[in-house]
Amino acid sequence: MGFEIKEIVTKPFEGQKPGTSGLRKRVKVFQQEHYTENFIQAIFDSIEAEGSTLVIGGDGRFFSPETVQTILKIGSANGVEKLIIGKDSILSTPAASNIIRKYKADGGILLTASHNPGGPSADFGIKYNVSNGGPAPESVTNKIYEKTKTIMSYKIIDDKPVDLSNVGEFTYGPTEVIIIDSVADYVVLLESIFDFPLIKSFLLHNPSFTILFDGLHGVTGPYAHAILVSSLGLPESCIQNCVPLPDFGGGHPDPNLTYAHSLVDAVEEHNIAFGAASDGDGDRNMIYGKGAFVTPSDSVAIIAHWADVIPYFKNEGGVKGLARSMPTSKAIDLVAKKKGLECFEVPTGWKFFGNLMDAGRLSICGEESFGTGSDHIREKDGIWAVIAWLNIIAAANKDSPNQLIGITELLQQFYETYGRSFFSRYDYEEVPSEGANALVAHLEEARSTNSLLNTTHLSVSTSDKFTISGMYNFEYKDPIDHSVSKNQGQVVSFADGSRVVFRLSGTGSQGATVRMYVERYVGPEAGKKELSRDTAEGLQGLIEVALEVSKLKAFLGVEKPTVIT
Ligand code: G6P
Ligand code: ZN
Repeated sequence: MGFEIKEIVTKPFEGQKPGTSGLRKRVKVFQQEHYTENFIQAIFDSIEAEGSTLVIGGDGRFFSPETVQTILKIGSANGVEKLIIGKDSILSTPAASNIIRKYKADGGILLTASHNPGGPSADFGIKYNVSNGGPAPESVTNKIYEKTKTIMSYKIIDDKPVDLSNVGEFTYGPTEVIIIDSVADYVVLLESIFDFPLIKSFLLHNPSFTILFDGLHGVTGPYAHAILVSSLGLPESCIQNCVPLPDFGGGHPDPNLTYAHSLVDAVEEHNIAFGAASDGDGDRNMIYGKGAFVTPSDSVAIIAHWADVIPYFKNEGGVKGLARSMPTSKAIDLVAKKKGLECFEVPTGWKFFGNLMDAGRLSICGEESFGTGSDHIREKDGIWAVIAWLNIIAAANKDSPNQLIGITELLQQFYETYGRSFFSRYDYEEVPSEGANALVAHLEEARSTNSLLNTTHLSVSTSDKFTISGMYNFEYKDPIDHSVSKNQGQVVSFADGSRVVFRLSGTGSQGATVRMYVERYVGPEAGKKELSRDTAEGLQGLIEVALEVSKLKAFLGVEKPTVIT
């Protein structure tokens, strides 16, 4: 139809390798001439762009609107037939996953760096999702990376920029462009999953059960407003920091005890019964009530335990299977065992759950990194987890007319049934890569030579003793496509069933980030006092031993972790 396609000469940039969740770099890196264009062209070169329908959205962070226009230019020149774009370039990650599935798109490009800070001197990211609505598998991301190494030109069509603030149908060159409401389809989805009338009635009859959701100025604000305020009838005061900002208000939009202090402080100050927060792009969640932090490993296990009260799982013919990422505590394994369900252990990264879901073998899964979700979409889903908890609490209270069952009571009941997996993660962020690699090499050496096997280590502070009973480097063979993922974390197992995992983060944008995950199981017979101990206290001895055995402080040259969750 006579739209001129221009071929722009470029040269490859180093390091355009997508990590755990897409390509994440500083905004300044993306702003270099041709940098973003190269990566987008590489995506189109790695998929069947011609005649495709793609969904475009993201967390609305700084540099998103410009990048949407770049996608319009390059996408139209590469023969994309239809682009479905969230209004103002916004679609939370779970909402985008839903849109891809619902409108049977061939894939989607998500502009997000998730929980990393945003703004001109912070991070930006581009992530490709495939037609099942989930993150692209490594076969696709490797292809994209290979293309970025040899790219010599990219194609564009120069049409008038599309006004992203108007919902409606437009064109860009030969491409049909549909700007959609960012929130509406997601609300329909959640209303079809949960028992909204039950939750609404519980909230109405229990005004003392106060609620606070913190959007951390990420993308979830409008979603939380639509669901908590408009659908469930809660007052506006139940949400805070719910206006999405391109720099997240200068904060670090990550729902954990360190970065979501705005939620933690408000919950403590106002005695909020049920607090929750989500991250920049809306796929993570933290559940935190007065005096009760729910570790994500427990959260997914508790949701799995109570799944029968959630209509979606009934309608789907029951829960098919459960799963967790390797470093996540084994609490959910105990639920699977009790319910006679399959339970999978996959590497870190939500994409590993997708094949199992598509094969009909997995319904509920989670990761210690504050990700919880189900097969309703192919991403983890922050608001889903929050409403799942409200649905469970509403159902639990139906059978408890005299005592209000809140977060603390649900945790206690769970520990008394299954025992408790004390779990914590220490993060050493942006440490020198040499130190991190030396730590990995030290553990690898100990593993391959068995030098630490059967050695016993004393914690000076607690007098606990821990004997190393095994070491391995986690490797995963996907049961569906049989692809193998190696080097997914070094595991140190102890004779009492405790374990410590060391892993390098795949989501950082600078230097290396080392994560140390510690887990110690205490059976239900230990009694209420032992089961309700403070996490840090319950893990103190094991942490001391883990640091000693790994020589972590010496390798990384740091005394303390930057974040403890
Ligand atoms: C993202 C992914 C998760 C993953 C997390 C931690 O949020 O979607 O699946 O667990 O990053 O990744 P990292 O490699 O930084 O530990
Ligand atoms: Zn995220």
